[in-house]
Amino acid sequence: MLEFEPPQFQGHAHHLTKETYEEMYKESIASPETFFDKMGKNLLHWHQPFTKVKAGGFHQGDVNWFHDGQLNVSYNCVDRHAIATPNKVAIIYEADEPGRAQKITYAELLRKVCQFANTLKKYHVKKGDRVAIYLPNIPEAAVAMLACARIGAIHSVIFAGFSSDAVRDRILDAECAVVITADQGMRGGKVTHLKKIVDAAIEQCPCVKTCIVFQRTGDKSVPFTPERDVWWHEVVDNQRPVCPPEMMKSEDPLFMLYTSGSTGKPKGVVHTQAGYLLGATMTCKYVFDMHPNDVHGCMADVGWITGHTYIVYGPLSNGVATVIFESVPTYPTPSRYWDLVDTHKVTQFYTAPTAIRALRRLGDKHLEGYKLDSIRVLGSVGEPINPEAWLWYHEVVGRKRCMIVDTYWQTETGSIVVTPIPGVTTTKPGSATKPFFGVELGVLDSQTGQELVGNDVEGVLVIKSPFPSIARTVYDNHKRYMDTYLKPYPGFYFAGDGVKRDKDGYYWIQGRVDDVINVSGHRMSTAEVESALILHPLCGEAAVVGVPDDISGEAIVCFCSVKSGYSDITELQQSLRAQVRQNIGPFATPKRVIIVPDLPKTRSGKIMRRILRKVAAKDVTLEDAKTDAGIREKLGDISTLADQSIVKILIETAAKQ
Ligand code: PRX
Repeated sequence: MLEFEPPQFQGHAHHLTKETYEEMYKESIASPETFFDKMGKNLLHWHQPFTKVKAGGFHQGDVNWFHDGQLNVSYNCVDRHAIATPNKVAIIYEADEPGRAQKITYAELLRKVCQFANTLKKYHVKKGDRVAIYLPNIPEAAVAMLACARIGAIHSVIFAGFSSDAVRDRILDAECAVVITADQGMRGGKVTHLKKIVDAAIEQCPCVKTCIVFQRTGDKSVPFTPERDVWWHEVVDNQRPVCPPEMMKSEDPLFMLYTSGSTGKPKGVVHTQAGYLLGATMTCKYVFDMHPNDVHGCMADVGWITGHTYIVYGPLSNGVATVIFESVPTYPTPSRYWDLVDTHKVTQFYTAPTAIRALRRLGDKHLEGYKLDSIRVLGSVGEPINPEAWLWYHEVVGRKRCMIVDTYWQTETGSIVVTPIPGVTTTKPGSATKPFFGVELGVLDSQTGQELVGNDVEGVLVIKSPFPSIARTVYDNHKRYMDTYLKPYPGFYFAGDGVKRDKDGYYWIQGRVDDVINVSGHRMSTAEVESALILHPLCGEAAVVGVPDDISGEAIVCFCSVKSGYSDITELQQSLRAQVRQNIGPFATPKRVIIVPDLPKTRSGKIMRRILRKVAAKDVTLEDAKTDAGIREKLGDISTLADQSIVKILIETAAKQ
């Protein structure tokens, strides 16, 4: 088993050493009140200091932190640095077009946030109102988020790859009166028609009164409805660049972000002010070993939780420069990331295994000539990273001198929960290693719910006690929060992932144990894709599974039984794939659609997905299908199926299509 000692940099003191880390971790678990009292006071600015650190718990679903304190998140992320270091760079915008980077200082950011906060007020947005943000990965997205935080509005950022149906559902669920978008987006040289998508969505959203449109490309043909739409530049530039921050109670909601679970309908996961901000601030400081002159390069999109926490809130709260990268790693060439790192002297670089695998496959020549010597920490997030990709990241990108942090967390946890720590942790490629401060993990037997104590165990991952940045509820549906996360194993937070704890107490995340598929770090439920498919007029029934994929981690394979009335099977498959794209977004496009006469169901009508998973992954072949024994050997017991003959038909059909 490969292991790597954490690198020590000459002339650079890490925030933590093995000794200080051990002591702090112990305190964070044994006396969370004392530990987080110090953290909360040292790392955040409070307008009204808290007296109570922690209350509530997982049994009742009433977790709360610092509840009598008051602060403002935008003040913490912007004002305090604009006061201390006004000319320091806050945001580096690396636009889709190479060579067009722009820098925004903390003083400029403060003015922009205030002007936009005043714009929101002009359109009657008040504390507690929900605001939808559907923007490309541009600084205006961060400005809009921080402006909402400034006036106490709850932002709901919708990733700009979602289709109009998905945008509509999210706007309606949160009853947003204001939507912020752009005329068009640019990604990898391609145009996306954001305003058109938003228009199609809000036609069906009577709650929307105002749509603020940022001009990203300036395309003249963009539709505009004067009674409802306003141009960002026309209205914002007229606002006063001063807006007093609203005092927010620690447990007031800060934002909601939709994520997929086991059912078809995405959940609006709600994060609150102080606990979330503390999680974001602390993890940036300790996991990325952030220092005042750092340039943090998180390559995610602000539309996902990684962008919220590690592009916007975490780095800005720490007062460093944060990169907003609008493009893709291969545009205009596969050297784009490395060009960006050298140009901006990025000190922490954070991306997803899917990008690492894709770049590794394209060859090391794309890194030749790049120094990459500014980087100290290389982070990975979103899915398990296979050891080959980890080693490539370490050797070819990190030149064996950087700390690799494989960070495990979720939309619901708000910030990183399992991770190595620079200067401290011995890493093992493929393992997210150990829990972060305040996080106590458990491994349970999935069937009995019994905790598996000791090392060398495998089961489902739970978190044993609340930490500050854990999500507090599902928007307007606390019952769903309880049912999804806190009821499956009472007293614990159920993460939905399988995990191994090895002989040294290291954690190895095994992937989801529920019906969630992770495609290139994009999380979606099989039920969501199935609901999209059955909207197709010819689709009778659909079952969706994930299969392993070398680049995207997992890929979507759909089995559809269809009604009669089609003539060309390839055309039908294409239109079913298009149906999913249209209903969810291009990132959810199935890799394969297999048209089958029927689905494998038990006598009680339940689809046996385990069979479909094996058929889709080609784990069972035509050769196996020749005999019952061959089928049983590959698929296990199928005696509970209502019609066992379907299995052979499925294998044959899948092989042909
Ligand atoms: O299955 C885990 C996987 O991504 C899920 C969370 O997805 P999402 O809420 O979209 O947040 C992604 C970014 C934080 C988890 O339940 N996951 C995330 N990070 C890792 C991971 N799996 C293994 N290793 C990781 N480092």
